Amino acid sequence: MNLDRIYMDYNATTPPEPEVIKAVTEALQEAWGNPSSNYIAGAKAKAIINHSRENVARMVGGKAEDIIFTSGGTEANNLVIHTAVEHFRKNCRAAEQGEAHSNGCTGLPHIIISNVEHDSVRLVAEHLQRDGKADVTSVPVSKTTARVEVEDVIAAVRPNTCLISVMLANNETGAIMPIQEICQRIKSLNKQHERLRILLHTDAAQALGKIRVDACELGVDYLTIVGHKFYAPRIGALYVNGPGTRTPLYPMLFGGGQERNFRPGTENTPMIAGLGKAAELVTSNLSDYESHMRSTKLYLEERLRAVFKDRIRFNSHYPGSDNLPNTCNVSILGPTLQGWRVLSNCRRLLASVGAACHSGSGNRPSHILLNCGVPSEVAANALRLSVGRGTTKEDVDIVVEDLRETVQLLEEMN
Ligand SMILES: Cc1ncc(COP(=O)(O)O)c(C=O)c1O
Repeated sequence: MNLDRIYMDYNATTPPEPEVIKAVTEALQEAWGNPSSNYIAGAKAKAIINHSRENVARMVGGKAEDIIFTSGGTEANNLVIHTAVEHFRKNCRAAEQGEAHSNGCTGLPHIIISNVEHDSVRLVAEHLQRDGKADVTSVPVSKTTARVEVEDVIAAVRPNTCLISVMLANNETGAIMPIQEICQRIKSLNKQHERLRILLHTDAAQALGKIRVDACELGVDYLTIVGHKFYAPRIGALYVNGPGTRTPLYPMLFGGGQERNFRPGTENTPMIAGLGKAAELVTSNLSDYESHMRSTKLYLEERLRAVFKDRIRFNSHYPGSDNLPNTCNVSILGPTLQGWRVLSNCRRLLASVGAACHSGSGNRPSHILLNCGVPSEVAANALRLSVGRGTTKEDVDIVVEDLRETVQLLEEMN
């Protein structure tokens, strides 16, 4: 990366911490054996994987056996949705044979998501719906709070609902969703009816390393973990509360039995080592990371307000909603100040207009912001500025000055 550039796109990805690089390198050099081999090189790899599993579990308040390593967040999210559909089908087959309750077994499995989910949830659900394999309800977030409201989720439940998947924090607005409340309400529904249990999933990709995340407190059955959002390499994991016992888990892949057959394939020891180290860092330093990012973001917002005055709109501020400590989504109003145009003329700032996976969708305003009630002309100018552990106030000053000059240039050009 050009040293002159200032990176403010930590919601897209984060650079691995030096300790993480060290753990990955050491594992590559010293633990290259197949973890399933009984001799020393294999045993060393196995020990590293076990240790990492414990560290990842500790970060999310789970037990080591609740962690299944995956290639990343996309796979973890797919695995949950696949499981819910398989579980529904198995249950209905058992009901046909008189071995289970037939409640909810009419029709297709029904999945509830929010209308601001990441594509690795939204597109899987839409694909199943298009193929006639599931019914999907996409609950709109409130245009006031940018959160899904608990009552709206409850109102969407049907007898055949088998999964609710709502992200813990949104990647563009930073809005934190009421997962604990949703889980509490659904758990009492699950108890009340002799019905197929509704499984509860949250994609915690954007929350980990930024706010405290405890899967047990939240009450979820599944929680998605994405390494490259918290200074680990590109690998992920799925937390499952008692995989295969308390909570169903059906593999998408079949092979050599690794990850207790839930996700076979020879383990990626170095990346797992890096994930474990990054998780350990989060567990030890979360409050420092969080307070540093929050104060840096507040300073950024203050400077933006001071320079752009009433031309500034924050698309990450919603009354009554908590927000990630690092995410500032902002529009500078003006007919020539579309987000992509501003960013492509900035000399120092590296940021994005929204989710990295939408960067191919042309210059259309983010559907996430539109769904949160941001007017189209404001959403078109959105800049997602997400700060990291190492972002300084000096960086903020440089970025705000860069934005001031860029805005001036674009307005003069017109
Ligand atoms: C909320 C959310 N979920 C899932 C993902 C996908 O994770 P991965 O890139 O590891 O597949 C991302 C990031 O890209 C994300 O922001």
